[in-house]
Amino acid sequence: MSDLQPTLPTVGILGAGKVGTVLARLLLAAGYRVLIAGSGSPAKIALIIDVLAPGAHATTAEEVARESDVVILALPLGKYRSIPAELLQGKLVVDAMNYWWEVDGIRDDLDDPRVSTSELVQAFLPGSRVVKAFNHMGYHDLDEGPTPAGTPGRKAIGIAGDDESALAEVSALVDASGFDPVLVGSLHDSIALEPHSELFGANLPAEGVQDAVSRFPTTERGLEVAAAREERLGAVVQS
Ligand SMILES: NC(=O)c1ccc[n+]([C@@H]2O[C@H](COP(=O)([O-])OP(=O)(O)OC[C@H]3O[C@@H](n4cnc5c(N)ncnc54)[C@H](OP(=O)(O)O)[C@@H]3O)[C@@H](O)[C@H]2O)c1
Repeated sequence: MSDLQPTLPTVGILGAGKVGTVLARLLLAAGYRVLIAGSGSPAKIALIIDVLAPGAHATTAEEVARESDVVILALPLGKYRSIPAELLQGKLVVDAMNYWWEVDGIRDDLDDPRVSTSELVQAFLPGSRVVKAFNHMGYHDLDEGPTPAGTPGRKAIGIAGDDESALAEVSALVDASGFDPVLVGSLHDSIALEPHSELFGANLPAEGVQDAVSRFPTTERGLEVAAAREERLGAVVQS
């Protein structure tokens, strides 16, 4: 039997703001190599990274995309079309983004209940496997919440995606970050993790996240989403 431990994937983070730096810190603490970029040159974020996520390598978005095995999207959703899609071909991409109108402006394309925003991201990154995760918990709670696996009341992060192996990899990442992963469903279902849902902003243990997922279809938002999706299905069947 070999004593060699499997090598942890290199994690890249696009976005060196509130969430990006917290996730960098959590993943560094778990032993991952972390690359991180903002929208501009590495020099622009070097000081922030030195202070908030020492040990992470500040670089360009292109190098993050090229050199990482897993890339976390922690930039404003309104800018998703600036992500280097070509360089992310074949990679696992974790979408931690939300449509936030105060930051992104009023964007009907990002606020259509018939599709989740992660489906839009997946459509923009056809060569990548996209999983939604780390989006519903506020950055303070992410920062203060991690505990070792098995801790009573450990906080949980909902994850959603269409690819089983990608979901398994992201579950491991969430667990290593200090949270229990809870499967919410497909990328289509990830709308239950978005703003307007009960889970958005939630800082709950796994049972609480599971209960909120089960309740979603009966909530005001869940009913609105179902009605919009049925209408679309009806239009497709008729055409
Ligand atoms: N704040 C929260 O509690 C929270 C929790 C969960 C998820 N989220 C989501 O996470 C995302 C980031 O939120 P935040 O609060 O961390 O925002 P933030 O503090 O404003 O940070 C955004 C970061 O994204 C960078 N960025 C912009 N365009 C980029 C690009 N094309 N490539 C690489 N980086 C780029 C910005 O760089 P520049 O400064 O150079 O523009 C900045 O470093 C949002 O989608 C948000 O909805 C937020």
